[in-house]
Amino acid sequence: MKILILGSGAREYSIALALQNTNENIEFYFAPGNGATATMGTNLNMKDPKVITAYAKASEIDLCIVGSENFLAEGIVDLFKENNIAIFGPTKAAAMLEASKSYMKSFLKKYKIKTAKFLNTTDYEKAKKFIMNLTPPIVIKADGLCAGKGVIIAQTYEEALEATKNMLSGESFGEAGKIVVIEEYLNGFELSVFAICDGKDFILLPAAQDHKRLLDGDKGPNTGGMGAYAPSNLASENLLEQVKKDIVIPTLKGMQKEDSEFVGVLFIGLMVVNGKPYVLEYNVRFGDPECEVLMPLIENPLDLFLACVNKNLINTKITIKNKFAVGVVCASKNYPYKDSPKALITIDNIPQNSHISYAGVSLENNKLYASGGRVLVCVGLGDDIYEAKENAYKLCENVHFKGKQYRKDIAFQVLK
Ligand code: AMP
Ligand code: GLY
Repeated sequence: MKILILGSGAREYSIALALQNTNENIEFYFAPGNGATATMGTNLNMKDPKVITAYAKASEIDLCIVGSENFLAEGIVDLFKENNIAIFGPTKAAAMLEASKSYMKSFLKKYKIKTAKFLNTTDYEKAKKFIMNLTPPIVIKADGLCAGKGVIIAQTYEEALEATKNMLSGESFGEAGKIVVIEEYLNGFELSVFAICDGKDFILLPAAQDHKRLLDGDKGPNTGGMGAYAPSNLASENLLEQVKKDIVIPTLKGMQKEDSEFVGVLFIGLMVVNGKPYVLEYNVRFGDPECEVLMPLIENPLDLFLACVNKNLINTKITIKNKFAVGVVCASKNYPYKDSPKALITIDNIPQNSHISYAGVSLENNKLYASGGRVLVCVGLGDDIYEAKENAYKLCENVHFKGKQYRKDIAFQVLK
């Protein structure tokens, strides 16, 4: 079977690794992939959805799995469908749930799904009026995709007005900021829930938590994510039932009504306020690094992807292991500020119940080099969160490259 995976991060690597560990006879292709995916299959130096589709058709790809949101927003799923090639991910229209925050908020309102009180607007005076009726902190969001940077939590009215002005003028985020979403601030704890959907039915993967800040204790600048763990015991059975009933089911039904049936990963960013789940945002693909801790927990990942593509989840048994996973991101020296010098990666050994998912690496003469950004994720598995964490950190200490930095407190939220 030929599987093409789109993206270049540890997320995409972890999808391939989980499939490879559970199935023989998969031939992997990656576009564009990274230095480590080149050792698992063939990297294709392609970014244009049309070029990728033509390649997939010509080389008889059996299944494409889309890792990153940009391909989805560009409509790669629509192109594959027109060519009758199986692809796991939402269409361009359905991907609007992530690509446009104003669309997402209007959708939530229309289908009565709990979210922070908000206003979508392109008009500064309307924004100002709404802002002055809220109590700081006030949340200002750019409408479009901003690689996780388009959200400002303003501590004062002045800051909120300034952020709004800069977004609407295009100064902060260009076109992506020309519509803003102004939101009330929700105070609670955040949780990532992943519903894997076939358009009608879904399964929930174990709830995960990301660690967005660079430094221990949630200090320092925001990053793409410095580590994750799953399952989180902050997600009680009762909470997950509410998420299914009040969020996932109405979302899938709503998307059907909008003629945008949702197939793929519905990644729900939740704020849990007094035990009640509110939708902060939707993403339409796996989180990174959440994916790296979720994939190893799925017993039969290929069945899951195929069942979604074939709209047959209802007749498919997906088994989730009774295990915990912790993933610690090792990033390069200057992350997230600027590029870092290339550095050779050496590994003493890989202890039992741990493995690496690679991201920012290049392959030269059969050696892997850290090439910047988030370099790799050390994943530990265990029968409880403590064991998983210990295994992840043991591996971290066995991996070396110049300038390596990582958080020492991944999963602190549940380690008492
Ligand atoms: P988003 O991309 O919409 O998930 O926002 C990025 C981050 O901003 C979230 O992970 C939260 O930490 C924070 N955030 C977004 N919206 C709110 C809100 N309404 N109240 C409090 N924090 C928020
Ligand atoms: N880890 C958060 C994200 O992938 O958006």
